[in-house]
Amino acid sequence: MRIGSIEISSPLFLSPLAGYTNLPMRLTVRELGGLGWATTDLVNARSLIERNPKALQLVRTAPADRPLAVQLFGAVPEEMRDAAILCQELGAASVDINMGCPVKKVVRIGGGSAMMTEFAKTAALARGMVEAVKIPVTAKMRLGWDDENITAPELARALEDVGIAAIFIHGRTRAQGFSGRVNLGGIRQVVTAVSRVPVIGNGDVTTPEAAKHMINETGCAGVSIGRGAFYDPWIFRRTDHLLRTGELLPEPSFEERVRVMTRHLELMIEIFGEELGCRMFRKVGPWYAKRLGPAKSFKNALVKLVRRDDFDRALEVFRQWRAPYCDAEGNLLPRFAPGPMVASFMRDDDDPAALARDAIPVPKGPVDVW
Ligand SMILES: Cc1cc2nc3c(=O)[nH]c(=O)nc-3n(C[C@H](O)[C@H](O)[C@H](O)COP(=O)(O)O)c2cc1C
Repeated sequence: MRIGSIEISSPLFLSPLAGYTNLPMRLTVRELGGLGWATTDLVNARSLIERNPKALQLVRTAPADRPLAVQLFGAVPEEMRDAAILCQELGAASVDINMGCPVKKVVRIGGGSAMMTEFAKTAALARGMVEAVKIPVTAKMRLGWDDENITAPELARALEDVGIAAIFIHGRTRAQGFSGRVNLGGIRQVVTAVSRVPVIGNGDVTTPEAAKHMINETGCAGVSIGRGAFYDPWIFRRTDHLLRTGELLPEPSFEERVRVMTRHLELMIEIFGEELGCRMFRKVGPWYAKRLGPAKSFKNALVKLVRRDDFDRALEVFRQWRAPYCDAEGNLLPRFAPGPMVASFMRDDDDPAALARDAIPVPKGPVDVW
């Protein structure tokens, strides 16, 4: 598939997760293969124009981190335009506009014609960016405010008309937050609303089968995966393989999980230094640990990481500690293995126990704008 004039190697995208999808995470996932495109965490347009060091850190990249889109956030058209120009100068493949839910003011004052004004304003902001740069400009949004206000199809059409190159759609409303099922029908409405640009579906894709199901049910051109990539950074490779061949590759072994977790930490340290890298890994390590079976004490050690040595020691202790849970080959005995992940939209029932097991935690942050 293509985004604007850029041909990408797979229809699989890494969703922006503020605080997580930084350069070490992106490099870790890219090394495993199957990922077609990644996006930075959201970056405040004004901060970027002002060359704020934190904003510059967010757009930091490397030759192996391609193609990379920078996600911009802001409501002032001139700032968004100038930030897009700067992203182009910095070598970004594309700029993505964070639209969270663009109609909140409209809903508050009653919708109707005001909604058209808001769409017109949003489309004008996007047009200003599209006209200012040569790289593709994309948009990421939710379905709308709530089930009675599914506005994304109309907005997507308006954005297509001003030259937006792709639409990323999280199949939930703003009212849903991160709970409830992802609405595949809502994603399908966005797909059918546009005629020229690819629509990329998003939300709760935690397995290759779920990605395939989303594509089959909605007609979306690609799938963007966020939290699922933390449980399973191999998801892109396995999904790409499934889409190409119909074959489902096995889940990674314990040793492979440890290898990739270690690589992620090494990249954190290489890029941010040992002190900051270890501190940042404290919120990443537990995601890996979650799929390792019983690992409570290991998780406790990960969230206190100070130095690289601490990690090596904790891993050594963990290897010995988990032996009673394993067979002679070192694989977890079936009764201790974590249950399979099942995406919200692939579940027949809303069994609370299953939902609790598979719920992907949403860390604190400005959820309002996601
Ligand atoms: C911790 C966290 C941070 C997020 N940060 C962003 C962000 O910076 N920009 C954005 O557009 N969406 C953001 N999102 C939303 C995700 O990109 C994605 O749309 C959502 O998590 C659903 O996909 P998933 O179920 O695959 O994670 C964030 C979500 C989470 C949980």
